[in-house]
Amino acid sequence: MSLAMQITRRARLAGLMGEGIAVLPTSPELARNADTQFPYRFDSSFFYLSGFGEPEAVLVLFAGDLRRSLLFCRNKDVEREIWDGFRYGPDAAREQFGFDEAYPIDELDKMMPSLLENQPKLYATLGADPAWDSRLIGWLNEVRSRARTGVQAPKEILDLRSLVHEMRLFKDESELATMRRAGQISRDAHARAMSFTRPGQFEYQVEAELIHEFYRNGSRFPAYTSIVAGGANACVLHYVENNAELRDGDLLLIDAGCELHGYAADITRTFPVNGKFSAAQKDVYEIVLAAQYAAINAAKPGNTWNMPHDAALKVLVQGMLDLKLLQGSVDSVIESESYKQFYMHRTGHWLGMDVHDVGDYKLNGQWRELQPGMVLTVEPGLYLRPADNVPPALANIGIRIEDDVAIVAGGNEVLTAGTPKTVAEIEAVMAGQG
Ligand code: GLY
Ligand code: MN
Ligand code: MN
Repeated sequence: MSLAMQITRRARLAGLMGEGIAVLPTSPELARNADTQFPYRFDSSFFYLSGFGEPEAVLVLFAGDLRRSLLFCRNKDVEREIWDGFRYGPDAAREQFGFDEAYPIDELDKMMPSLLENQPKLYATLGADPAWDSRLIGWLNEVRSRARTGVQAPKEILDLRSLVHEMRLFKDESELATMRRAGQISRDAHARAMSFTRPGQFEYQVEAELIHEFYRNGSRFPAYTSIVAGGANACVLHYVENNAELRDGDLLLIDAGCELHGYAADITRTFPVNGKFSAAQKDVYEIVLAAQYAAINAAKPGNTWNMPHDAALKVLVQGMLDLKLLQGSVDSVIESESYKQFYMHRTGHWLGMDVHDVGDYKLNGQWRELQPGMVLTVEPGLYLRPADNVPPALANIGIRIEDDVAIVAGGNEVLTAGTPKTVAEIEAVMAGQG
């Protein structure tokens, strides 16, 4: 991603603000235990606007006549860099990331009250982090305490997220290229997992294959904790223990995607542990697959957010009736929502730097229209738990099929295309013929 891109984004944001100041910190570091940290992940919006990936950094942006952008970041520190590695320091960061000014993060408390002085509006992210909120309020109170010198604190505090999230919802060509590559790496990871899976292996051994494929292609993290769920575990929607033995005759549901340069892929595939679908598994699988195709066909410009979900739901409900899981008509089942016993989640979400990405789903109370540049997942499923009195042959079948879809002029592009998906494709890959 080029430096010019973040400068352009900051300029666009300043234009949307019109006037005032925006303040946006990156994410804090998180302790895993004692003095060990979780791998660091920057705040997505901060990185989107700055390109700067170090912790302990704050972006300050002035709109209007004053238009300029400031970065607060860690100082160079020869001693710390011996232990923890390179840090830019303000001077190099200003140059490298195209800021007008950069200062040591240690100066933040001293400088912020003056920066806030006489700004008509403050754009902030109140509610994201209580510790940050109280610092911000402290700076505002410091400005107010100087009122007799003639300065004023911002009269309006507005939500910075609403502006940045709307920008992030529309991906440009370079973002789409990154997401396409993340989709391809994740595609290969799923194919690798299918080739590897055999009865008697443990879910974590299959997970290791996914991670191997991510890492060896330059993705340093899964975009979210991988779900590797054999048999009944597939009916636990957020199953992440991944520690059970895989049994002959069961299905394996894998929901896994890599993060590449800050962008997520999100793929689910479900396949037989022994490489061959049983008749009952195939019946259910074909229903979910038909629902997914129907939803993908409905993901196009001019349609609204809800239309892929509605298209998938009709197919799934007809399938529930055909399998005799429910009685009635498609309309009556949708009306009563009795389908939620077997399909309890929605058909997708926005996808981008966050796996459940930002962006409003409704505008003025109406499902929003799909437009080129938006990226969403399409992920129908069916979850048949014995507790729901399903016929024994169908019990513990949990199936979800998920792809990542970019809306383009006239239709869509499946960013995760090529991930084995039909019964024939999956069985061929598992037989070593894919
Ligand atoms: N992997 C998270 C989701 O599918 O929403
Ligand atoms: Mn998803
Ligand atoms: Mn998923």
